[in-house]
Amino acid sequence: MNILQINSSARSTGAFSTQLANVLAEKLLASHAGSTLVLRDLAINPHPTLDEAALVALMTATEARSLEQATSVARSDTLIAELQAADTLIIAAPMYNFGITAQLKNWIDAITRAGVTFKYGANGPEGLLTDKQAYVVLTRGGVHRDTANDTIADYMRTILNFLGISKVEFIYAEGLNMGDEMQSKGISQARSEIELAVA
Ligand SMILES: Cc1cc2nc3c(=O)[nH]c(=O)nc-3n(C[C@H](O)[C@H](O)[C@H](O)COP(=O)(O)O)c2cc1C
Repeated sequence: MNILQINSSARSTGAFSTQLANVLAEKLLASHAGSTLVLRDLAINPHPTLDEAALVALMTATEARSLEQATSVARSDTLIAELQAADTLIIAAPMYNFGITAQLKNWIDAITRAGVTFKYGANGPEGLLTDKQAYVVLTRGGVHRDTANDTIADYMRTILNFLGISKVEFIYAEGLNMGDEMQSKGISQARSEIELAVA
């Protein structure tokens, strides 16, 4: 098992999503001898926004790119290579303002590349990242599971499926900002879901 763990909290320390993703990674490593783990922490190493310069760099032919453009493309090439090399993906995904964090969105914008991780064919879009299992660890201050407010699970499933990753499991840690009791309940619930996912 080659695991890629993406931490996307803005917090480089103390993030519940990171802690729970770590627990999941440790359990997967322990239960699959010889497994490897690559960690990409977007709080420590944030990926830049897909702005106009980054888009132009991508659309410029390789041999015509300036050094700055080549560096920009190489940064996302690295993220894509990490993903291609993994068969198991753990994404730690906190809720910020009812959406994913900007850090996670920037990572998604970097790894979603036409002709590389997906392509359009006669039958529509085709994901090129096949044979991978994804686990998405959802952390939130409130409780939103299975409500209209929870667009993150649908979005993450949609984008992962689009890229060819059809096996997606969610682990929920909710109510984390609703007092100590709710917080412990939310963490215990997530830990139980991790046990189930690993089993
Ligand atoms: C900028 C910001 C926005 C947030 N927005 C929401 C929100 O819309 N809904 C919610 O339930 N919790 C929200 N929270 C609470 C976080 O989801 C919660 O603190 C969670 O633990 C963050 O994940 P982390 O511990 O992995 O950093 C927000 C927190 C921050 C810092």
